[in-house]
Amino acid sequence: MHSSPVLLGIETSCDDTAAAVTAGGQLLSSIVSSQDDHSAFGGVVPELASRAHLRVIVPIVDEALLKAGLVRSDLDAVAVTIGPGLAGALLIGLSFSKALSFGLGIPFIGINHLEGHIYSLFIDEFRPNFPFLCLVVSGGHTQLVKVEAHFNYFILGRTRDDAAGEAFDKVGNLLGLGYPGGPAIEKLAEHGDPSFHNFPRTRLQGFDYSFSGIKTSVLYYLNAIPEAERRRHIQDNREDICASFQEAVVDMLVRPVAKAIRESGIRNLALVGGVSANIRLQKRMRSLAQSAGGELFVPDQKYCMDNAAMIAIAGHHKFVAGQSSPLTLTVDPSLALVE
Ligand code: KG4
Ligand code: ZN
Repeated sequence: MHSSPVLLGIETSCDDTAAAVTAGGQLLSSIVSSQDDHSAFGGVVPELASRAHLRVIVPIVDEALLKAGLVRSDLDAVAVTIGPGLAGALLIGLSFSKALSFGLGIPFIGINHLEGHIYSLFIDEFRPNFPFLCLVVSGGHTQLVKVEAHFNYFILGRTRDDAAGEAFDKVGNLLGLGYPGGPAIEKLAEHGDPSFHNFPRTRLQGFDYSFSGIKTSVLYYLNAIPEAERRRHIQDNREDICASFQEAVVDMLVRPVAKAIRESGIRNLALVGGVSANIRLQKRMRSLAQSAGGELFVPDQKYCMDNAAMIAIAGHHKFVAGQSSPLTLTVDPSLALVE
């Protein structure tokens, strides 16, 4: 086996087309092409996503190789997201990767997108030691995972309905902020008062989450304002509404983590997935970790959102552990982190 294997990572599970190159587990390049075709629709339109992936996948891969100063024949393996995600979008990345690996005669490695997010923690040098408690919070998923060792996950809790990012996106829509809602809400919340309105926090037994109630309570709050005044009210109070909503979501996210620290004795925390870019959430998680005598690990901002660096790094760890996938492997839109 190559002592310093070169991997190409590819990610097309949703609305970002991404490619990255690693050598010996070090990131050489990471290119993300975000589709702006969806913002007018308030969410990702699957067919538009597939078409956009198809348009840009070859140039994005070429750009990642060029930036790494390498050519296709330098590659030792290709790692690609196989799920969860949009079937048509995943198929573009998978078909391209299979063709490339077959053509070059090198292995291809299917990667779970959620596992990819967890491996975004291993891109930089500042990495958690095992075991650690990892909150995976994205537009499609909210899970609290105990990571025991490489590829060894135990799911403590998950959302029973909406994901945390989905709640940000839906509330962003209600407030007329476009898609995705998370970054826009966070920006407005910076100058808002989190105690402006007390949105009720849903609390479940154990470590599970539920975010459908908070979205509905924002809707009820807005509907209680006479229609003629609603637009004006939102305009005048956007920052406070966003801060109050964000605080409620963050409260709900950290509570089971605090319980997990108490019950497991694990002190190191990690935060991954699109919502981990949220500074307020990072702050609350960091103080939880620190008061337990541990640390919080968060990927660099640019690796919080979907990217291929995390896929290439996950692929690297699998490759050096001798793992690869058969060419018969196909996409699984609802692939779970743990079967
Ligand atoms: O991981 P990701 O890029 O895609 C999925 O796998 O879903 O996450 C995207 C999600 C969106 O729901 C977006 O609103 C949310 O992450 N998000 C944020 C922030 N940045 C992105 N949510 C809250 N605060 C942010 N700063
Ligand atoms: Zn993601």
